[in-house]
Amino acid sequence: MKALVLSGGKGTRLRPLTFTLAKQLIPVANRPILGYVLDQVRDAGIAEVGVIIAQETGNYVKDYVKDGSDWRMRVDYILQEPLGLAHAVKQARPFLGGSPFVMCLGDNLQGRGISNLVRRFEEEKLDCLILLKEVPDPQRFGIAVLDSGGRVTKLVEKPKEPPTNLAVVGTYLFSPKVHLAVDRIKPSWRNELEITDAIQEMINMGFRVKAEVLDSWWLDTGKKDDILTANQIVLDEYVRRDVRGNVEESTVEGRVIVSEGASVKGSRVRGPCVIGRAASIEGSFIGPYTSIGDSAQVVNSAIENSILMAGASVKDVERMEDSLLGRSARVSKNGRSHSVKANVGDFSEIEV
Ligand code: DAU
Repeated sequence: MKALVLSGGKGTRLRPLTFTLAKQLIPVANRPILGYVLDQVRDAGIAEVGVIIAQETGNYVKDYVKDGSDWRMRVDYILQEPLGLAHAVKQARPFLGGSPFVMCLGDNLQGRGISNLVRRFEEEKLDCLILLKEVPDPQRFGIAVLDSGGRVTKLVEKPKEPPTNLAVVGTYLFSPKVHLAVDRIKPSWRNELEITDAIQEMINMGFRVKAEVLDSWWLDTGKKDDILTANQIVLDEYVRRDVRGNVEESTVEGRVIVSEGASVKGSRVRGPCVIGRAASIEGSFIGPYTSIGDSAQVVNSAIENSILMAGASVKDVERMEDSLLGRSARVSKNGRSHSVKANVGDFSEIEV
């Protein structure tokens, strides 16, 4: 079993952050989503991994994943123009050879992991196994229809009139027969080779396609609010109290990580939250569901349910919530008090 991890694409929905960062690298709880995806691949015992990258953002992905040894895996990079998920499979054919594989979207994370899906896929000798999750907004996703035996009978990509609310989650298992289907499909209205069309083709060809409804959480970090939700879920899921940095005249309550080299002075920190390496918090309140990146600075401010990426700074801001600040972005107050909401790209500067 190999893995194909999709870290290409355009990321247009997350601009301005994605002008200078691949969307799979946007940190949640101070770590790129892609890192958690690779953890799950490794935990399933898969050591040969192809990572799909795009021209514009590929180098950022390579700088993070390197040769894969941090995850004890061997990584091959596959350059792809963003022409669809099934196009990525086609492009990866030399890497995949005749091997079955799990395909993971690098900006998707689900709470179930991959190991037991691989087990089921192998035991039942399936050609395709997909994960589904009920969603309130099925128009945004690939949607599946099942028969009473749990077999997939139909798949449609982002339907205007969804037949069900069962969305296709970004974890797929395939036998090499998928390549036969990919060769038979045509680009969709958005000019992409859709993986949903390829799976539909596998059904039409009589291959064994099954689905499982996910009983755990699923994150698709497609836009700002999804990233803040992802941050909440990942903080809830993965943060255990671990205070290593310097804490003076402060209270640190609950599940909080204060990383090495960080300093918290005259402040109150209420978890779940994470404070990165060499970050500095002074005279401030850091509320639940906040991730403060490495070397970020918060002075005389209150922040809740927000992400500050590395090097960002917030000064004299009475209240900031539901905000996402790119690397080295700076927000400070000038004059009378205001509540602040922001979606700020790298190196931006805001004065309120
Ligand atoms: O998030 C789940 C949904 O992902 C599924 O329900 C849909 O059926 C599936 O088509 C896909 O929908 P999106 O349109 O939201 O996919 P997106 O363009 O966001 O791409 C998903 C990931 O794959 C993202 O990390 C970028 C990467 N990608 C995307 C394309 C189109 C590539 O690496 N290459 C590509 O050509």
